[in-house]
Amino acid sequence: MQHYLSLKDIDSLPQWVEEARSLKANPLQYKALGDAKAVCLLFFNNSLRTRLSTQKAALNLGMEVIVMNFGSEGWALEYGDGTIMDQGTSEHIKEAAQVVAQYCDIVAIRAFASLTDKEKDEAELVMNGFKKYAGIPVVNMESSVGHPLQALADAITLAENNIKKRPKVVLSWAPHPKALPHAVANSFVEMMHLQEADFVITHPKGYDLNPEVTKGAKIEYDQDKALEDADFVYVKNWSSYQDYGKVMNQDKKWTMTNKKLGKAKFMHCLPVRRNVVVADEVLDGPNSLVIQQANNRTYSAQIVLKKLLESLK
Ligand code: CP
Repeated sequence: MQHYLSLKDIDSLPQWVEEARSLKANPLQYKALGDAKAVCLLFFNNSLRTRLSTQKAALNLGMEVIVMNFGSEGWALEYGDGTIMDQGTSEHIKEAAQVVAQYCDIVAIRAFASLTDKEKDEAELVMNGFKKYAGIPVVNMESSVGHPLQALADAITLAENNIKKRPKVVLSWAPHPKALPHAVANSFVEMMHLQEADFVITHPKGYDLNPEVTKGAKIEYDQDKALEDADFVYVKNWSSYQDYGKVMNQDKKWTMTNKKLGKAKFMHCLPVRRNVVVADEVLDGPNSLVIQQANNRTYSAQIVLKKLLESLK
């Protein structure tokens, strides 16, 4: 594996999940692997879990970690070829990526969607720019269209809690006052395509995800019907994809409650707005897996960094 940019970079999800669970059981077993190796974590956007869990994962592997809040502290980057840079951008991705690569062996990047320009967002300018010019492995810590470290952590969490050969897993949209990206939902859907499960996506009309991502998945617009007999319910807000980046519905009827959840386990990537996305009673109840999911972010990052370190040797 040269990079970890999407779920497509995983050769066998069950094997990776098994290996991640082994790392969780003994996190320091490969402490020598990252000796004299450094990872740069570049954040163009805020983070709690991704920042700390990726740092922890790298430390578990014996790596040095360099963190930069690029969005607030770095120069504004230019991505266009041949641009006359007399406007707002100060440095071209060509130089920036090559410079960063001199300071580390792996670069991990968080760069969210703008939600104002679908074409630009889907071009993944930051991730692809670093991939093209850095010449070192690039890890996606959430890009415009995907959050593959989160989806891998979610696969670990599902494996730890699943007791059925073919569980029913529901991805349910929830209301939110702000326009949120599609990345978490996209990667969760991609991950579920690799699982043996009865998988259903439910959301109000007008909130369909990118049809290329959901191709082959069952979509049910009636949330109650979708939630019937669910074993796992993954709740997430996203803005409209068709009317790109718009908030078209804040209907509280979609907020997850204990009544809706029934006996299912509750999942969310966090951060989450209490009593908007999900009721207190769910988050504080015994069926919530959110803290376990956040813990598994360390081991999803650790398995990715381990595989990239092995490919450097
Ligand atoms: N789930 C997740 O990526 O959390 P942060 O945005 O806090 O990193």
